Amino acid sequence: MHKVQDARVDMYEQLPVPYGLVRFGVAPDHPEVKNCQDTFEEVAASPRFNYIGNVRVGYDIGLAKMKPHYDAILFSYGASEDRKLGIPGEDLPGVLSAREFVGWYNGLPQFQSLAPGLDAGEQAVIIGQGNVALDVARILLTPVDVLRKTDITEQALQVLSGSRVKSVKVVGRRGPLQAAFTVKEARELMHIPGVTFEPIDQSLYPPDIKKLPRVQRRIAEVLLKGTQASPQESCKSWSLSFLKAPKSIDASEGSGHLTSVTFTNQAFSPGTDPFSKSASVTPTEETSAYPASLAFRSVGYKSAALPGFSDIGVPFDPKLGIIPNDPYGRVIAPSEGPGALTAGHVPGLYCAGWVKRGPTGVIASTMQDAFASADVIAQDWESDVPFLNTDKGEKQSTGLGWDGIKEEVIGNGVRPVSWEDWKRLDQAERSRGKELSKEREKFKTVEDMLATLDR
Ligand SMILES: Cc1cc2nc3c(=O)[nH]c(=O)nc-3n(C[C@H](O)[C@H](O)[C@H](O)COP(=O)(O)OP(=O)(O)OC[C@H]3O[C@@H](n4cnc5c(N)ncnc54)[C@H](O)[C@@H]3O)c2cc1C
Ligand SMILES: NC(=O)c1ccc[n+]([C@@H]2O[C@H](COP(=O)([O-])OP(=O)(O)OC[C@H]3O[C@@H](n4cnc5c(N)ncnc54)[C@H](OP(=O)(O)O)[C@@H]3O)[C@@H](O)[C@H]2O)c1
Repeated sequence: MHKVQDARVDMYEQLPVPYGLVRFGVAPDHPEVKNCQDTFEEVAASPRFNYIGNVRVGYDIGLAKMKPHYDAILFSYGASEDRKLGIPGEDLPGVLSAREFVGWYNGLPQFQSLAPGLDAGEQAVIIGQGNVALDVARILLTPVDVLRKTDITEQALQVLSGSRVKSVKVVGRRGPLQAAFTVKEARELMHIPGVTFEPIDQSLYPPDIKKLPRVQRRIAEVLLKGTQASPQESCKSWSLSFLKAPKSIDASEGSGHLTSVTFTNQAFSPGTDPFSKSASVTPTEETSAYPASLAFRSVGYKSAALPGFSDIGVPFDPKLGIIPNDPYGRVIAPSEGPGALTAGHVPGLYCAGWVKRGPTGVIASTMQDAFASADVIAQDWESDVPFLNTDKGEKQSTGLGWDGIKEEVIGNGVRPVSWEDWKRLDQAERSRGKELSKEREKFKTVEDMLATLDR
C-alpha cells in the first residue's frame, strides 16, 4: 500500500452522522456487520483526518469553489436513488421502494415520514431477489420482540407491531440458480419462529444438486430443506417465486387500494443453460397475478450525478449510474486521452464505492475497492502526474482544504458537524437507547441532531 507522507484528508458527509449505509442500510438485527465502524474510528483518530458533517457537496458548496483548495477530490457518495421498474402502477400508494423502507426502519431522516401501510392487508410482494429483498422480508416477518433489542427506531417498532402482513412473496425474474441473495440471508429466514417457507418447485434444480458449484449448492440445500414448522403451526409464511417479470401493479378502482402484482411468466432462453449463474430468460405469453396489499420494489439502488460536475470536468454515466473510471478509481473522460500512463484521467479526480462500481458489493469488497482507489492516488502522487491545480508542472492548490471554504459554507446557513460533535450525538443516542434497553435510539431528524449539539 502506497502512502502520501503528511497528506491531510477532509471527509464531507451530507448528514451530521457518519457511516452511510452501515448505519442506514445494514439491517438492525445484524449488529456484528456494523463492527466495520471501528476501522472508521481508527482513521478518524488521525490528526490529519477532518470530518465535516452536515455539508452536502454540490448543494451547500459548489465543487468549483472547493477545487482551488485541494490537490485531489475522491467521490464516494454512494447511491442515493433506486432503479425503477418502468411498469404501470409503480407509483401507486402502497408501493414502496426497498430503499425508502430500509431507510425508514433504520432512522434515515429523509424517510421518517414514510408511514408504510403495514396494516393495509396480509399479503406483501417483494419484486427482486437480492439481499436487500431478503432484509425487507426478514424485518416484515421477525417478531417485534426480537427486533426490540436492536437499534431499529421506536417508530418502526410501533408500526411493525400493528402490521397485518402474514405472507411475503419474494419474486425474481430468473431462476433459483441466478438469484442474487446469499446463503446466510436465506438461512436466517428459515429460522424465524412461527414462519414457514412454501416449498419451491424442485424441477428448477438439476436432479443432482451435489454437482452444482459450492455457492449455489449451499443455497439449494437451504431452500430445498425449507423450514421445519408446518403451515398449521405457523402464523406467517414466506416464499420465493421464480421466472416472473413484473408487468403491472394493480389497485381496486373504487378504493384505490393495492390488490395485486401481475407478472409475465418467463422461460429460459433457447440454448441457455438454466443451471448456470448467468442464464438468460425470455418472456412467455402467460401471466401470473399475486394478491398484494403492499408491494416493494427491490431491484437495486442507483447513483446520480452531483450538481457542478461539469464545472470541474467530472463525467457521469447516467445509464450505469457511475462515474466513468479506470478499474483503479481514476475518473476518466474520453476527451482527456490518449497518451501517457494515465491517459483519459481527469487530473486529481478519483472515485470509490458504489458510485465507482455500481450499486453492488458487500462492505468487505467495497472497502478493498476503496483501498485500491487510495493506493492509486498515492501512486499518482509519487509519479508526479498532474493533480487538480497543476499548472506548468507546479502544484498550485492553496492547500487550505476546508479552511478555504468554511466561511462561505457557514455563511450559507449551514452548521458543520465535527467528529467531536458526532461523538456527542453518539453518546446522546446511546443514553436514549439505554432507557429503552437497546444499543441506541437514533435521532430521527437533522434538526433534532443539531438542537442536541447546540443545547
Ligand atoms: C439495505 C442494505 C443493506 C446492506 N447490508 C449489508 C450487510 O449486511 N453486509 C454487508 O457487507 N454489506 C451490506 N450492504 C452493502 C454495503 O452497505 C455497501 O457495500 C456500502 O455501504 C457501500 O458504500 P459506499 O461508501 O459506496 O456508499 P454509502 O455507504 O451509501 O456511503 C455514501 C455516503 O455519502 C453520503 N453522501 C451522499 N451524497 C453526498 C453529498 N452530496 N455530499 C456529502 N455526502 C454525501 C451519504 O450520506 C453516505 O453517508 C447493504 C446495502 C444495503 C443497501
Ligand atoms: N446481508 C448482506 O450481506 C447484504 C444485505 C443487503 C445488501 N447487501 C448487498 O448490497 C448490494 C445491493 O443489494 P440489492 O439487493 O439492492 O441488489 P442486487 O443484489 O443487485 O439484486 C437486485 C435484484 O433485483 C433484480 N432485478 C433487477 N432489475 C429488475 C427488474 N427490472 N425486474 C425484476 N427484477 C429485477 C435482480 O435480478 P437479475 O439478477 O435478474 O438482474 C436481482 O434479483 C448487493 O451486493 C448485496 O449483496 C448485502
